[in-house]
Amino acid sequence: MPETWPADLGPVICVVGARPNFMKMAPILRAFAAHVPAIPTLLLHTGQHYDRDMNDRLFEDLRLPQPDINLGIGSGSHAVQTAEVMKHFEPVLEEHKPSCVLVVGDVNSTLACTLVAVKKGIPVVHVEAGLRSYDRAMPEEINRVLTDQIADLLYTTERSAADNLAREGIAAERVRFVGNVMIDSLLSNRQFARAPAATVAAGGGDPTLIAGPQGYGIVTMHRPSNVDDPGVLASLLGVLREISEALPLVFALHPRTRNNIERFGLQHLIDSPSMIMLPPQGYLEMLGLMAGARIVLTDSGGLQEETTALGVPCLTMRENTERPITVDQGTNTMVGRDVAAIRRQTAETLAGHGKSGRVPELWDGHAAERIAADLASWLLARHVIAN
Ligand code: UD1
Repeated sequence: MPETWPADLGPVICVVGARPNFMKMAPILRAFAAHVPAIPTLLLHTGQHYDRDMNDRLFEDLRLPQPDINLGIGSGSHAVQTAEVMKHFEPVLEEHKPSCVLVVGDVNSTLACTLVAVKKGIPVVHVEAGLRSYDRAMPEEINRVLTDQIADLLYTTERSAADNLAREGIAAERVRFVGNVMIDSLLSNRQFARAPAATVAAGGGDPTLIAGPQGYGIVTMHRPSNVDDPGVLASLLGVLREISEALPLVFALHPRTRNNIERFGLQHLIDSPSMIMLPPQGYLEMLGLMAGARIVLTDSGGLQEETTALGVPCLTMRENTERPITVDQGTNTMVGRDVAAIRRQTAETLAGHGKSGRVPELWDGHAAERIAADLASWLLARHVIAN
């Protein structure tokens, strides 16, 4: 391995777009800078998420540098959002001549940038590859399947991912099991997590509500399948309200959910002192809230993994998960949108029968370093062959 990066081998363009990308990219950028030779990077933000709660606070908490390039595309339908990213990303590739494009996760920005780069003959590296819910009604599943099919190097977080990829005809030499970069972020930031009472107070809630011996639970939900249908949203809020009578619940409300509660006239369902409604939270606030909770009820992908790493019981309000290791080895239980199952599993958890689980293989805080070492070798070997 040379001491310095070859002058004629371009930077890695590292793409982020939406909130769940930020905690995955932060450790990657640090590991690339610390690698010998340092791997040059350009941080590109598509602008899919843009406001203070969904974007700026996370950049600050994760100590992410300001993006070198921001495409500023904002919200829109899937087609509009994807097309806008593609249109604006193409000239960036022409200008900067990257050695490769690195994408993370499964948001629209991930697929849009992958499509553009691959068609321009630029290698694409996908971090968190191979996860499958086998539910094609989820936009993220489409993004995952298509990105993995055309990307050149696929870094995976759990061993089941390689089986999923093999089933789709993807050659094993493109796949590398490196562990979970999101858990790198969690472990390196745990010491900085904010106290839950302070977070509740800062969000306008009454911190004494979560201070009692009964503790508190955390709720997040934003999946279109849970929050875009008035009947489904009302029944989920109804059972959560019931649970909150025994256990105060702290909600971190995604803008989609907040808008829909208003649009469907469901405010009365959340109008209860033991349902503490907060705006979307920063990374360190969410970490502190999760670590201190007795239970987490969510439809997020990331929280399923973070609760497994923290050893906190998690009930996932979805019919399927693309992260089966959190169920097989971790603290996660799938409850779907089934009100009776949510009620029953919550009662069992609060009675002390929640899953304790164990931390999966290679979720050890060093995944980004493994990616840096592997990717540097791969890019340098290709460079030697090309010259
Ligand atoms: C996106 C991802 C999803 C991820 C989620 C995390 C896709 C297909 N979905 O969904 O996988 O779990 O991010 O949040 O990429 N909005 C704001 N401020 C913002 C951004 C969005 O208020 O900074 C509102 C807008 O009303 C927007 C809506 O949220 O229309 C949805 O945003 P969008 O990026 O389209 O999808 P998410 O539901 O956030």
